[in-house]
Amino acid sequence: MEYEEKLDKLNYLIQTNKVDKNNKGYKVGVDLGTANIVLVVVDENKEPVAGKTYPSTVVKDGVVIDYIGAINILKKLKLSLEESLDTKLSLSNAALPPNVDKSNYNAIKNIVESCDFDIEKIVLEPDAAAKVLNIENGAVVDLGGGTTGISIIKDGKSIYSYDEATGGIHMDLVVSGYYGVSLREAEILKKSATKEITNLVRPTLEKMATITSGIVSSFNIDEIYLVGGSSCFEGIEKIFEDITNIKTRKIDNALLVTPYGIAIS
Ligand SMILES: Nc1ncnc2c1ncn2[C@@H]1O[C@H](COP(=O)(O)OP(=O)(O)OP(=O)(O)O)[C@@H](O)[C@H]1O
Ligand SMILES: [Mg+2]
Repeated sequence: MEYEEKLDKLNYLIQTNKVDKNNKGYKVGVDLGTANIVLVVVDENKEPVAGKTYPSTVVKDGVVIDYIGAINILKKLKLSLEESLDTKLSLSNAALPPNVDKSNYNAIKNIVESCDFDIEKIVLEPDAAAKVLNIENGAVVDLGGGTTGISIIKDGKSIYSYDEATGGIHMDLVVSGYYGVSLREAEILKKSATKEITNLVRPTLEKMATITSGIVSSFNIDEIYLVGGSSCFEGIEKIFEDITNIKTRKIDNALLVTPYGIAIS
């Protein structure tokens, strides 16, 4: 199965609340994001078997701000997956954005371990996304809720990662200010991604492309791959191509690439 099909399957399992039970060496990927907390369960063949996603208020710009809240949500999601799969889940991978300090690394580790998970690996978020795409050379750019994360891949390996605070929340602020609505309403309006909305958030998308350009220009990169929820805007590839002069491709099921990558790392 190609990664596109695996992501489609994972999306289906999450949307329909179904599982594909087989009890073969389950491992859980834990993505504590700024906008979403996502748990992905894979089997020993890296096949997705279940997943859960929950809106997050516990992480800001990649940094945990509500430690207890994070543990409570994670415990609830884990329990619900265990009930559906009819087994205990213990093995997990977690992730953090590049450029965060040791204290945040420890926070993520402690939160995940407090939920009775044994952590096998803690990976960098855009590296996890790159793992899914299985690329030899290129830049993977994760446009999330809080940050723009970038990994440079050479000969199948991540050689450099970077992360800067520009993400979906910054678009919400623009939309909220323009229409005089709450951030919650702005978030809903933004996802309608109409032409007017896309024009309104264009400067934020350009900022993301400019951040990317500043990094990729130091490397000899042929292609940029966009993942993360904030890559959902139509025409985003063109904005990135105009600013970076590098061919840009958007990946389907953008919200699930990094979480699935964490699970299979
Ligand atoms: N259809 C859509 N159109 C535009 N934006 C969207 C759409 N769907 C989701 N988003 C945005 O994507 C963001 C969430 O993406 P994602 O789940 O990748 O972020 P995250 O992992 O929680 O954040 P981070 O990686 O920065 O910590 C939110 O800001 C959300 O508003
Ligand atoms: Mg993310």
